Amino acid sequence: MLLADLARGVPGATVDGDGSVDITGVQPDSRRVKAGDLFVAVPGIRADGHAFIPDAITAGATAVAIESDAQKPDGVPAIRVPSTRGALGELAAELYGRPSRHLRVAGITGTDGKTTTTHMAEHVLQASGIVAGAMSTVAYRVSGKETDNTSGQTTTEAPQVQAWLKQMVDAGVRCAVIETTSHALVQERVAACDFDIAAFTNVGHDHLDYHATWDDYLAAKARLIDLAASSADKGIEKTAILNRDDVSYAKLAQHPISRRWSYGLTSEADFQPLELGMTDTGSHFRLKTPLGETYVSLAVPARFNVYNALCAAAVCLALEVPLEDIGTGLASFEGVRGRLGRVDAGQDFRVFIDFAHSAGALASALAELRPFTQGRLLVVFGSTARSDHDRPGMGRAAAQFADFFIITTDDPLAEDPVDIARDVQSGVEGKAAGLDYEIVIDRRAAIRRAIELARPGDTVLLAGKGHERTMQMAGGSEPWDERAVAEAAIRERA
Ligand SMILES: Nc1ncnc2c1ncn2[C@@H]1O[C@H](COP(=O)(O)OP(=O)(O)OP(=O)(O)O)[C@@H](O)[C@H]1O
Ligand SMILES: [Mg+2]
Repeated sequence: MLLADLARGVPGATVDGDGSVDITGVQPDSRRVKAGDLFVAVPGIRADGHAFIPDAITAGATAVAIESDAQKPDGVPAIRVPSTRGALGELAAELYGRPSRHLRVAGITGTDGKTTTTHMAEHVLQASGIVAGAMSTVAYRVSGKETDNTSGQTTTEAPQVQAWLKQMVDAGVRCAVIETTSHALVQERVAACDFDIAAFTNVGHDHLDYHATWDDYLAAKARLIDLAASSADKGIEKTAILNRDDVSYAKLAQHPISRRWSYGLTSEADFQPLELGMTDTGSHFRLKTPLGETYVSLAVPARFNVYNALCAAAVCLALEVPLEDIGTGLASFEGVRGRLGRVDAGQDFRVFIDFAHSAGALASALAELRPFTQGRLLVVFGSTARSDHDRPGMGRAAAQFADFFIITTDDPLAEDPVDIARDVQSGVEGKAAGLDYEIVIDRRAAIRRAIELARPGDTVLLAGKGHERTMQMAGGSEPWDERAVAEAAIRERA
């Protein structure tokens, strides 16, 4: 696409220099620039992309996008925009032909349950015969074909998001479900996505280092509603889907949008489970919706998955999936890899692997397992190097909800795992080290220890790694397979 044409499609952009050069890619990382790329100089937290313009040009950048007041480099044409961060997604979207305008797009945000809800909704769509796509922490799926998300980010940078949307359009996808973090919303990584549906799980008090207060965090998430309300009309009603039982509801409901649907278990809501029955492997209920009722039997355990199912059902109904198909689609959903996945190697106690790595998610995963545990509830977990998690809160949650816990290592990166474990331990109240809990830094040894301690009727939860295939250490990323480690420990014990 010609630089001038690209600039024409981006609000506030002007060309400085030769607009007739051909642009084949949009790249904010100077180390990844290829010949033909437009290098977008984005001011980051650590460094300003404008400083890397010479590197980008050396690497073959055909043109650069710079902020309005920046110095234009000699010899290459430039696009000037008021904010390069804001323009990054717009430029990529424009280059790829605005893919999200050719799809119906649902964004899923919240503190917990985003990935699960995203894949549930995508599964229901596919099961109903609607070609669907999804992007999540775990995977990208395009028309049923899965690629691992190895980016380390749930919502990747804007150009990748647009590239995936383009792939979806090329593959004939009609509906896309995008897991959207609040970081991504703040950093405008999805600003050039024309959302039709903005769906919310819960909005707990996590990630509060990045967002100074809960109100800021909530405001960041709420931008998804504003994006949906103001995006291109695709002949489908713009809908916000809100959790009526969550503290976020009142604030989120103030954001104007054409249609607002609520779901809940304990409050009166548009989507509600009637005659809800829970088992240790799932649940069943009559689903009440604004368009009638359908029977749902879920093969994924835990009450929070009832919430996720209600949210996914509302997303699918808003995307015009027939009501009966929602019931049958949910029934065949087998869960997301590493989300309360059961490990069964013939042992006489239960072992679950779960991705829960925030205080809230850890507490809810334990609370879910409790009613179906005859014996003791044991948990192995650690806190990651990312400082936006409430470490003492995780210790507090384990102390409150487990009978025995082992604090261990989880993606420490350059931080000392012992220091991280101490931070977690600082939140533990009313429990004695050695008696009620242990600290075993080596994760393999910690899992072995928990399996060794388990007795018939006990439940062991291995929390934090879930689907991940690596452990992020100071020296780089090492292969990790939580399920294989757990199975080996069970075999060793036998
Ligand atoms: N609706 C929910 N409410 C509370 N906890 C939940 C909910 N859904 C899932 N969880 C817990 O959180 C864990 C993570 O679930 P999931 O991966 O779906 O969430 P996420 O929002 O995508 O998380 P992340 O922020 O890490 O991407 C689950 O394994 C479970 O323990
Ligand atoms: Mg996720």
